[in-house]
Amino acid sequence: MKGILLSGGLGTRLLPLTKVTSKQLLPVYNKPMIFYPLEKLLEAGIKDILIIVAPDHCGDYMRVLGSGKEFGARFTYEIQDKPEGIAQAFLIGEHFLRSGDSVTLILGDNLFDDDISTSIKQFSGKGAKIFAREVPDPHRFGVVVLDEQGKAIRLVEKPTEHLSSLAQTGIYVYDSQVVGIAKQLKPSARGELEITDLNNAYLRQGQLAVEVLTGEWIDAGTFESYYRANKWAYEKLKMQSAE
Ligand code: TTP
Repeated sequence: MKGILLSGGLGTRLLPLTKVTSKQLLPVYNKPMIFYPLEKLLEAGIKDILIIVAPDHCGDYMRVLGSGKEFGARFTYEIQDKPEGIAQAFLIGEHFLRSGDSVTLILGDNLFDDDISTSIKQFSGKGAKIFAREVPDPHRFGVVVLDEQGKAIRLVEKPTEHLSSLAQTGIYVYDSQVVGIAKQLKPSARGELEITDLNNAYLRQGQLAVEVLTGEWIDAGTFESYYRANKWAYEKLKMQSAE
């Protein structure tokens, strides 16, 4: 299993904080935001990790993260010239992913409380697995509609009507078909290769598993959620030091 840490994007919703640095390098309490998703990959035993960054701050990423040695891992870096969608990670990562590799993709601004490591380690190497979380504001995300057996029946990007309260979170596990499937995707109306379209392709093949998370999940891309992320990180650390 390899890992991709996707950390490009513009971070416009956090301006002016993101005027001189990347969103995912901003501090979340006592460390850069990107450390949290990175630790999720490391906890799952993933040591070969591609870090995809935007052109403006790639030097800063290398300074902060280095070769990976400090983390007991090996980091490779690629630049995403323009934020043309999350699924573009697999086109950029084509050479990193040799045939036969499974891969976990995680977004650099997504923070998770749940222990996802067992689920990643148990991935069968066939199909795709996504992680959903109940949220109060599903229209902001790609939503997952499940049937009574908990099987996914529909995935819809930012729906205008209420279909489900389950949002697709920013961690995804794929088998070796992923690069080939990503190559078939067409840009959406907003000009992006959508991760929801990629997951829908797996769904149509009957190869999409959904796991529902119950712990805190924070997509730290807005001021409100960035503030919540800092509070969550501080409280988590305080609780650990009290144990
Ligand atoms: P977003 O939060 O949707 O986009 P953004 O980070 O550019 O922020 P804003 O909307 O405020 O301008 O992206 C979610 C995550 O995915 C974030 O970690 C950045 C990453 N991402 C990329 O790396 N490349 C992309 O092409 C896209 C769309 C997102």
